[in-house]
Amino acid sequence: MLAIIGGSGLTQLANLEITSRQIVRTPYGEPSGPLTYGRLAGSEVVFLARHGYGHTLAPHEINYRANLWALQSKGVKRVVAVCTVGGISIAHAAGSIAVPDQIIDYTWGRKSTFFEGAEQPVTHIDFTHPYDEGTRSLCLAAAKDANVPVAASGTYAATQGPRLETRAEIDRLERDGATMVGMTGMPEAALARELGLPYAVLAVVVNSAAGRRESKDAIQLDDIAKIIEETMSKVRLIVAKVVDHHGRS
Ligand code: HPA
Repeated sequence: MLAIIGGSGLTQLANLEITSRQIVRTPYGEPSGPLTYGRLAGSEVVFLARHGYGHTLAPHEINYRANLWALQSKGVKRVVAVCTVGGISIAHAAGSIAVPDQIIDYTWGRKSTFFEGAEQPVTHIDFTHPYDEGTRSLCLAAAKDANVPVAASGTYAATQGPRLETRAEIDRLERDGATMVGMTGMPEAALARELGLPYAVLAVVVNSAAGRRESKDAIQLDDIAKIIEETMSKVRLIVAKVVDHHGRS
Protein backbone atom coordinates (compact mmCIF):
# COMPACT_ATOMS: atom_id res chain seq x y z
CA MET A 1 0.00 0.00 0.00
CA LEU A 2 1.05 3.57 -0.69
CA ALA A 3 1.17 6.23 2.03
CA ILE A 4 0.89 9.96 1.58
CA ILE A 5 2.32 12.17 4.30
CA GLY A 6 0.66 15.56 4.06
CA GLY A 7 2.38 18.74 5.17
CA SER A 8 1.17 22.30 5.76
CA GLY A 9 -1.88 22.91 3.60
CA LEU A 10 -2.53 19.25 3.03
CA THR A 11 -4.06 18.01 6.27
CA GLN A 12 -6.56 15.99 4.31
CA LEU A 13 -6.97 14.61 0.83
CA ALA A 14 -10.00 15.81 -1.07
CA ASN A 15 -11.64 13.01 -3.07
CA LEU A 16 -10.43 10.48 -0.52
CA GLU A 17 -13.20 8.01 0.26
CA ILE A 18 -12.33 7.37 3.88
CA THR A 19 -12.84 3.76 4.92
CA SER A 20 -11.33 3.83 8.41
CA ARG A 21 -9.11 5.63 10.88
CA GLN A 22 -6.63 3.87 13.09
CA ILE A 23 -4.70 5.02 16.14
CA VAL A 24 -1.33 3.26 16.12
CA ARG A 25 1.05 3.01 19.04
CA THR A 26 4.72 2.42 18.38
CA PRO A 27 7.83 1.73 20.47
CA TYR A 28 8.73 5.38 19.69
CA GLY A 29 5.53 6.95 20.96
CA GLU A 30 2.53 8.29 19.13
CA PRO A 31 2.41 9.35 15.48
CA SER A 32 1.13 12.81 14.54
CA GLY A 33 -2.40 11.44 14.43
CA PRO A 34 -4.47 8.44 13.43
CA LEU A 35 -3.77 6.84 10.06
CA THR A 36 -6.57 7.58 7.62
CA TYR A 37 -7.32 4.72 5.23
CA GLY A 38 -9.27 5.19 2.08
CA ARG A 39 -9.59 4.89 -1.65
CA LEU A 40 -8.43 7.49 -4.10
CA ALA A 41 -8.59 7.04 -7.85
CA GLY A 42 -9.85 3.52 -7.17
CA SER A 43 -6.78 2.47 -5.20
CA GLU A 44 -6.07 1.96 -1.53
CA VAL A 45 -4.06 4.65 0.18
CA VAL A 46 -3.22 5.63 3.72
CA PHE A 47 -2.84 9.26 4.69
CA LEU A 48 -1.08 10.86 7.63
CA ALA A 49 -1.07 14.58 8.44
CA ARG A 50 2.51 15.31 9.53
CA HIS A 51 1.64 18.32 11.71
CA GLY A 52 -1.45 16.64 13.18
CA TYR A 53 -4.96 17.08 11.85
CA GLY A 54 -5.34 20.41 13.63
CA HIS A 55 -1.88 21.54 12.47
CA THR A 56 -0.57 21.84 16.01
CA LEU A 57 2.87 20.19 15.81
CA ALA A 58 5.84 22.41 14.90
CA PRO A 59 8.48 20.82 12.63
CA HIS A 60 10.84 20.05 15.53
CA GLU A 61 8.01 18.56 17.62
CA ILE A 62 6.94 15.97 15.07
CA ASN A 63 7.57 12.37 16.06
CA TYR A 64 9.06 11.36 12.71
CA ARG A 65 10.11 7.95 14.03
CA ALA A 66 6.61 7.08 15.22
CA ASN A 67 5.10 8.28 11.93
CA LEU A 68 7.29 6.11 9.73
CA TRP A 69 7.23 3.13 12.06
CA ALA A 70 3.43 3.25 12.21
CA LEU A 71 3.16 3.35 8.42
CA GLN A 72 5.53 0.46 7.92
CA SER A 73 3.94 -1.61 10.67
CA LYS A 74 0.63 -1.36 8.81
CA GLY A 75 2.06 -2.73 5.59
CA VAL A 76 2.95 0.47 3.73
CA LYS A 77 5.40 -0.26 0.92
CA ARG A 78 6.02 3.24 -0.45
CA VAL A 79 5.78 6.80 0.88
CA VAL A 80 5.23 10.03 -1.00
CA ALA A 81 5.61 13.00 1.30
CA VAL A 82 4.41 16.52 0.60
CA CYS A 83 6.62 19.27 2.05
CA THR A 84 6.26 23.03 1.68
CA VAL A 85 9.50 24.88 0.96
CA GLY A 86 10.94 28.28 0.26
CA GLY A 87 12.56 28.61 -3.17
CA ILE A 88 16.23 29.60 -3.18
CA SER A 89 17.18 29.17 -6.85
CA ILE A 90 15.24 30.72 -9.73
CA ALA A 91 14.18 27.19 -10.73
CA HIS A 92 11.78 27.23 -7.75
CA ALA A 93 9.43 30.21 -7.96
CA ALA A 94 6.56 30.57 -5.49
CA GLY A 95 3.65 28.43 -6.67
CA SER A 96 5.85 25.84 -8.38
CA ILE A 97 6.41 22.20 -7.44
CA ALA A 98 9.62 20.17 -7.42
CA VAL A 99 10.71 16.59 -6.85
CA PRO A 100 14.07 17.05 -5.11
CA ASP A 101 16.91 14.58 -5.60
CA GLN A 102 19.32 15.69 -2.86
CA ILE A 103 19.27 16.83 0.77
CA ILE A 104 21.49 18.84 3.07
CA ASP A 105 20.52 18.44 6.72
CA TYR A 106 20.91 21.41 9.09
CA THR A 107 18.45 20.19 11.71
CA TRP A 108 19.59 19.40 15.25
CA GLY A 109 18.25 17.77 18.38
CA ARG A 110 15.67 15.64 16.57
CA LYS A 111 15.35 11.91 17.13
CA SER A 112 16.85 10.98 13.80
CA THR A 113 17.64 7.27 13.89
CA PHE A 114 16.08 3.95 14.85
CA PHE A 115 19.57 2.59 15.48
CA GLU A 116 20.35 3.81 18.97
CA GLY A 117 20.26 2.46 22.49
CA ALA A 118 22.33 -0.18 24.24
CA GLU A 119 20.51 -3.11 22.63
CA GLN A 120 21.00 -1.83 19.05
CA PRO A 121 24.17 -2.52 17.07
CA VAL A 122 25.76 0.57 15.47
CA THR A 123 24.31 0.64 11.97
CA HIS A 124 25.11 2.95 9.07
CA ILE A 125 22.85 3.30 6.06
CA ASP A 126 23.86 4.36 2.56
CA PHE A 127 22.28 7.76 1.85
CA THR A 128 24.20 8.84 -1.26
CA HIS A 129 20.90 9.21 -3.10
CA PRO A 130 18.54 10.10 -0.26
CA TYR A 131 15.31 9.66 -2.21
CA ASP A 132 14.17 6.46 -3.87
CA GLU A 133 14.61 6.83 -7.62
CA GLY A 134 11.60 4.62 -8.41
CA THR A 135 9.35 6.75 -6.21
CA ARG A 136 10.76 9.97 -7.69
CA SER A 137 10.02 8.60 -11.17
CA LEU A 138 6.52 7.72 -10.06
CA CYS A 139 5.98 11.34 -8.91
CA LEU A 140 7.40 12.74 -12.15
CA ALA A 141 5.25 10.46 -14.30
CA ALA A 142 2.19 11.33 -12.22
CA ALA A 143 2.84 15.06 -12.60
CA LYS A 144 3.21 14.65 -16.35
CA ASP A 145 -0.01 12.69 -16.46
CA ALA A 146 -1.75 15.39 -14.40
CA ASN A 147 -0.40 18.06 -16.75
CA VAL A 148 1.32 19.88 -13.91
CA PRO A 149 4.85 21.08 -14.68
CA VAL A 150 7.37 20.18 -11.98
CA ALA A 151 11.11 20.67 -11.52
CA ALA A 152 12.64 17.19 -11.79
CA SER A 153 15.49 17.83 -9.36
CA GLY A 154 16.62 20.12 -6.56
CA THR A 155 18.59 20.10 -3.35
CA TYR A 156 16.47 20.34 -0.22
CA ALA A 157 18.05 22.12 2.76
CA ALA A 158 16.36 21.00 5.97
CA THR A 159 16.44 23.72 8.64
CA GLN A 160 15.37 23.50 12.24
CA GLY A 161 12.73 26.24 12.34
CA PRO A 162 10.18 27.10 13.36
CA ARG A 163 11.48 30.57 12.52
CA LEU A 164 12.27 31.35 8.91
CA GLU A 165 15.89 31.99 7.91
CA THR A 166 17.93 35.17 7.73
CA ARG A 167 19.12 36.43 4.34
CA ALA A 168 22.69 35.49 5.25
CA GLU A 169 21.59 31.98 6.16
CA ILE A 170 19.92 31.59 2.77
CA ASP A 171 23.09 32.95 1.10
CA ARG A 172 25.02 30.27 2.94
CA LEU A 173 22.58 27.51 1.98
CA GLU A 174 22.87 28.62 -1.63
CA ARG A 175 26.68 28.54 -1.45
CA ASP A 176 26.35 25.03 -0.03
CA GLY A 177 24.38 24.04 -3.11
CA ALA A 178 20.82 24.03 -1.75
CA THR A 179 18.08 25.15 -4.15
CA MET A 180 15.14 25.03 -1.73
CA VAL A 181 14.64 25.17 2.03
CA GLY A 182 12.11 23.53 4.33
CA MET A 183 11.81 22.31 7.91
CA THR A 184 10.32 18.81 7.72
CA GLY A 185 12.32 16.91 5.09
CA MET A 186 14.70 15.50 7.71
CA PRO A 187 14.97 13.19 9.53
CA GLU A 188 11.92 11.84 7.70
CA ALA A 189 13.85 10.79 4.58
CA ALA A 190 16.65 9.13 6.55
CA LEU A 191 14.24 7.23 8.79
CA ALA A 192 12.40 5.92 5.73
CA ARG A 193 15.75 4.70 4.37
CA GLU A 194 16.59 3.04 7.69
CA LEU A 195 13.31 1.10 7.44
CA GLY A 196 13.96 0.27 3.79
CA LEU A 197 10.83 2.18 2.78
CA PRO A 198 10.97 3.73 -0.72
CA TYR A 199 10.37 7.46 -0.15
CA ALA A 200 10.25 10.64 -2.23
CA VAL A 201 9.07 14.20 -1.72
CA LEU A 202 6.76 16.52 -3.61
CA ALA A 203 8.14 19.92 -2.60
CA VAL A 204 5.63 22.74 -2.87
CA VAL A 205 7.25 26.16 -3.16
CA VAL A 206 5.10 28.53 -1.11
CA ASN A 207 7.45 31.52 -0.98
CA SER A 208 10.81 32.69 -2.19
CA ALA A 209 13.39 32.16 0.55
CA ALA A 210 14.52 35.12 2.69
CA GLY A 211 16.23 37.83 0.64
CA ARG A 212 15.19 36.29 -2.71
CA ARG A 213 12.86 37.87 -5.30
CA GLU A 214 9.53 38.95 -3.70
CA SER A 215 10.99 38.10 -0.29
CA LYS A 216 13.85 40.57 -0.79
CA ASP A 217 12.91 42.65 2.26
CA ALA A 218 10.64 40.26 4.14
CA ILE A 219 8.69 37.05 3.69
CA GLN A 220 5.04 38.03 3.37
CA LEU A 221 3.38 35.43 5.57
CA ASP A 222 -0.11 36.42 4.43
CA ASP A 223 0.84 35.60 0.86
CA ILE A 224 2.00 32.11 1.87
CA ALA A 225 -1.50 31.04 2.88
CA LYS A 226 -2.83 32.22 -0.49
CA ILE A 227 -0.11 30.40 -2.45
CA ILE A 228 -0.62 27.22 -0.41
CA GLU A 229 -4.29 27.27 -1.26
CA GLU A 230 -3.66 27.86 -4.96
CA THR A 231 -0.87 25.32 -5.28
CA MET A 232 -2.38 22.48 -3.24
CA SER A 233 -5.04 21.97 -5.91
CA LYS A 234 -2.19 21.07 -8.30
CA VAL A 235 -0.62 18.85 -5.64
CA ARG A 236 -3.92 17.01 -5.22
CA LEU A 237 -4.03 16.33 -8.96
CA ILE A 238 -0.52 14.88 -8.82
CA VAL A 239 -1.26 12.85 -5.69
CA ALA A 240 -4.35 11.31 -7.30
CA LYS A 241 -2.19 10.22 -10.26
CA VAL A 242 0.54 8.93 -7.94
CA VAL A 243 -2.04 6.74 -6.21
CA ASP A 244 -3.42 5.60 -9.54
CA HIS A 245 0.04 4.74 -10.97
CA HIS A 246 1.09 2.98 -7.75
CA GLY A 247 -2.17 1.00 -7.74
CA ARG A 248 -1.47 -0.25 -11.26
CA SER A 249 2.19 -1.11 -10.65
N1 HPA B 1 12.12 28.39 4.90
C1 HPA B 1 12.00 27.23 5.59
N2 HPA B 1 10.92 26.46 5.51
C2 HPA B 1 9.92 26.85 4.71
C3 HPA B 1 9.98 28.05 3.98
C4 HPA B 1 11.15 28.86 4.08
O1 HPA B 1 11.28 29.93 3.46
N3 HPA B 1 8.80 28.16 3.29
C5 HPA B 1 8.08 27.03 3.61
N4 HPA B 1 8.74 26.25 4.46
